[in-house]
Amino acid sequence: MNKVIDEEIQGEATVLENPKESDKKLYLESYGCQMNFSDSEIVASILDKHGYQTTRNYEESNLILLNTCSIREKAESTVRNRLKSFNELKRNNPSLIIGVLGCMAERMKESLLEEEKLVDLVVGPDAYRDLPRLLTEVEDGHKSVNVLLSREETYADISPIRLDNNGVSAFISIMRGCDNMCSFCVVPFTRGRERSRNPLSIVAEAKELYKNGYREVTLLGQNVDSYRWNINKKGEILDQQQPTTNFAQLLEMVAHVADDLRIRFSTSHPKDMTDDVLHIMQKYKNICNYIHLPIQSGSSTVLKKMNRGYTREWYLERIESIRKIIPGCAISTDIITGFCGETNEDHENTLSLMDIVKFDFAYMFFYSERPKTLAQRKYEDDIPLEVKKERLQEVIDLQRTHSLESNRKCIGKTFEVLVEGPSKKSEDNFCGRNSENTMIVFPKENVKKGQYVNVIIEDCTAATLKGKIV
Ligand code: 5AD
Ligand code: SF4
Repeated sequence: MNKVIDEEIQGEATVLENPKESDKKLYLESYGCQMNFSDSEIVASILDKHGYQTTRNYEESNLILLNTCSIREKAESTVRNRLKSFNELKRNNPSLIIGVLGCMAERMKESLLEEEKLVDLVVGPDAYRDLPRLLTEVEDGHKSVNVLLSREETYADISPIRLDNNGVSAFISIMRGCDNMCSFCVVPFTRGRERSRNPLSIVAEAKELYKNGYREVTLLGQNVDSYRWNINKKGEILDQQQPTTNFAQLLEMVAHVADDLRIRFSTSHPKDMTDDVLHIMQKYKNICNYIHLPIQSGSSTVLKKMNRGYTREWYLERIESIRKIIPGCAISTDIITGFCGETNEDHENTLSLMDIVKFDFAYMFFYSERPKTLAQRKYEDDIPLEVKKERLQEVIDLQRTHSLESNRKCIGKTFEVLVEGPSKKSEDNFCGRNSENTMIVFPKENVKKGQYVNVIIEDCTAATLKGKIV
């Protein structure tokens, strides 16, 4: 399910591929980042053992769970509206259990029960193992909440149930939480302290996926470059008898699983991304030529207030390194417009940085103040909404020209594409990505999903390449 995910898109219902007979039915909808989609697969696995079978039809379910996102206000209002849409269903069927999982559960805790009367269950991202017990409480007529954050939980031993995906690409969560405290970001409050998962369990999961026909894995973490196993932040080894693992080493371990298993990862952090990682990417053909490296702002003044831990110059140096070590590597980014105190000049600096880097793709947002964050406590949210939106539009327009330019350069070239399945627009076409993560559409021929094909590019839009199999 390697698709562009934004928390402002509609939530998606997820369903088991091979449902078993069971009388308890779970309807699970996920919002937000890839990590939430990956967590939903853990939740499905935990509840599967507790007798719940997933369904696409919420009307026939006994349990509705929304796995939520708090990153921007809009993401939360989408979930609240969705909850309202279940009011009538709940009135007609009082035994229906409605639960809120994820970041919004963690941020709002018990107050969610006060504000959204139909909610029975509130469970934070580190408490999913407790779901069966919490459900028993609800079945006994109580409302139930567990929002405890953990310093250890990585769900390493839980084998996720792959939900509603294409059977070709899957997420593997390699770490949880974030210690960075970017001043605009609610994630450190909703997902807790950073912790990494045992590398052997990650490799085992990749092998299992490969065995089941998957040909692409995306390693997920809020800041994958700070992945570390058996070594603390100060560089001290925890167990002298065991090897230590950093992100570059983990990538290499996963790259060895199979030559034709593609590896992607997200998200890299400019302050932590090392040349070691780039050299490993360059060394292995099956590690994709694609890095998502959020800049957030092109102004060093704004970056400092954002507490990002790097300057414009540092970021540009990282870009140079990528281009030197992995020529042709695609780079995407995240940009926020209208952060507290952002001047016109700061905004111009973002535009000029975009002109220098020419990102292949970008996720772009206007700043949305989040409760309890450093920015909310320290800085005034002083940029008027219209200005935030005007600046966002300029950024979007500029990015569109860069994406189109980057795609036009692909015309006439041939790419190896991993076939993901039928294209959304036409049954006659297949789609898949190249190593650089651009979606490519081509007429169906005698190929199957999960297969690699070479496609020559004949046409493009800003978002997609079009071609034919050679
Ligand atoms: N307002 C707007 N965008 C935000 N992001 C994170 N927090 C906020 C916020 N408060 C964006 C950042 C981050 C991406 C996942 O979401 O660009 O990289
Ligand atoms: Fe949020 Fe920054 Fe952590 Fe990303 S690195 S999750 S933006 S605090």
